[in-house]
Amino acid sequence: MVGLIDSHVHLDDKRFAGEIPQLIDRAKKAGVAEMIQIGIDLRTSKIAIELSEKHPEIYPVVGFHPNELASYEDHEEKLIELAQGEEVVAIGEIGLDYHWDKYSREKQKELFLRQIDIAKNLNKPIVIHNRDAHQDTMDILRQEHKYLPGGVLHCFSGSWEMAKMCLRWGFYISFAGPLTFPKSNKLREIATNVPNDRVLIETDCPYLAPQAFRGKRNEPAYVVEQAKMLAQLKGLDYQEVARLTRENTIRLFNLKDD
Ligand code: NI
Repeated sequence: MVGLIDSHVHLDDKRFAGEIPQLIDRAKKAGVAEMIQIGIDLRTSKIAIELSEKHPEIYPVVGFHPNELASYEDHEEKLIELAQGEEVVAIGEIGLDYHWDKYSREKQKELFLRQIDIAKNLNKPIVIHNRDAHQDTMDILRQEHKYLPGGVLHCFSGSWEMAKMCLRWGFYISFAGPLTFPKSNKLREIATNVPNDRVLIETDCPYLAPQAFRGKRNEPAYVVEQAKMLAQLKGLDYQEVARLTRENTIRLFNLKDD
């Protein structure tokens, strides 16, 4: 049995307090072997590293989310220091969020670029957050992809045209719970068309529980739902989807598979 990797989790969330060993346990019972823990600011980036030290199933990613930029300038040096850790597999989640528009678009773009620079200097991939900012995200990735060792469009929500360009630039596309929602026909069509060697799956837990658990707190065990849907869409065995999404995640994040 090939274990899935949940490529995007936020286990630091209050809703999981005191429950992380149980979450990992439930994930393993469901067939989810590992998970990538994502930072959104300095505090959660540190937690990502701490969790990875405690739990061999967890790999840390550090960065400032576009909705959490208030203390970026003060903490940039510290972030760079954390990012240098050998255990840190990527910089993220970084990007643009024009849905909440918490900071000016100019500031979001500037700090997205500055964090891309950190990734470039360390030769690490990036985890990209894009909400309602497709055009500006594309403009930045068009310029920057050639200097990066890769990245992933997390919780993909764009068009097939956008996916195609990102694939051409070497990025991976990750699908979260919305892949299983009844109304997501367009997203499912995109997932069907993403090449088998570029697709990832994630929960983004505690947010965005898949249809079978909709409205509930999401957790890594539920990424199985995205794998099942992908198998159905691509006409592959579940085990084959487990294998290929696992291999893709290992390749992108340069994980040591043991
Ligand atoms: Ni996230």
